[in-house]
Amino acid sequence: MDKMIDIGTGPVVVLLHGFAEDGTTWDNLAGPLSAHCRLIIPNLPAIHSIEDLAATIASLLDHLGIDKCIMIGHSMGGYITLAFAEKYPDRLTAFGLFHSTAYPDNEEKKAVRRKSIEFIRKNGADLFIRQSTPALFGQYTHQHHPELIDAMIDRYINFPPDTLIAWYQAMITRPDRTVVLREFHGPVLFIIGEEDTIVPLQSSLEQSHLPAISHIHLIKNTGHEGMHEAPQTCTDILNDFITFVQSA
Ligand code: MLT
Repeated sequence: MDKMIDIGTGPVVVLLHGFAEDGTTWDNLAGPLSAHCRLIIPNLPAIHSIEDLAATIASLLDHLGIDKCIMIGHSMGGYITLAFAEKYPDRLTAFGLFHSTAYPDNEEKKAVRRKSIEFIRKNGADLFIRQSTPALFGQYTHQHHPELIDAMIDRYINFPPDTLIAWYQAMITRPDRTVVLREFHGPVLFIIGEEDTIVPLQSSLEQSHLPAISHIHLIKNTGHEGMHEAPQTCTDILNDFITFVQSA
């Protein structure tokens, strides 16, 4: 897998990035987390199926000789985590949905994604990234830390358009995976941004009670990008969750 990060020693924690991002999105958290665990942070390939993306993670773990891990997925990374949990439940001691959801796209969301695919085909990734990135951040960030939004645009302005299109197609066709939340045997972490408009608070709360063991964190002044908007809080939440899972 392209430029994967593998740092630290201890329990294995896989961090999966979201749409229009790469493994560097975890940079603020990787240093402090890797003091307590072995972090695997892949850059996801341009594959247009969430299930196939989950299968590439399984192959990566096989390749690294890793049987079990804790998997944390940001948004689209969470959709992959759920598909992984469905197919390989015994390979996860725990997992986390970081601004993510087990619900599928509704028809309205599918239509918006199809329009975005057309937009990217016509205008390229540059304009798409400029126009779509601000919506990832909460109102507080817009008012107090607009530099975070500019930095994200700069970082991903040259994103390969074919990859964006493949991931949109993957997200559109994913099924409802609330059954995975209901049936998973281990702890499930929910990190919820109070100002997230991509995965709204209400839908996160609705599903957070489904697992047998849920750890639920609601972060104030944060939209869909907690690792950028509240990096210390997110680091502390993940460290506590990893410690809990290890001691269980
Ligand atoms: C992401 O951050 O991965 C995407 O916004 C998820 C989505 O659009 O459903």
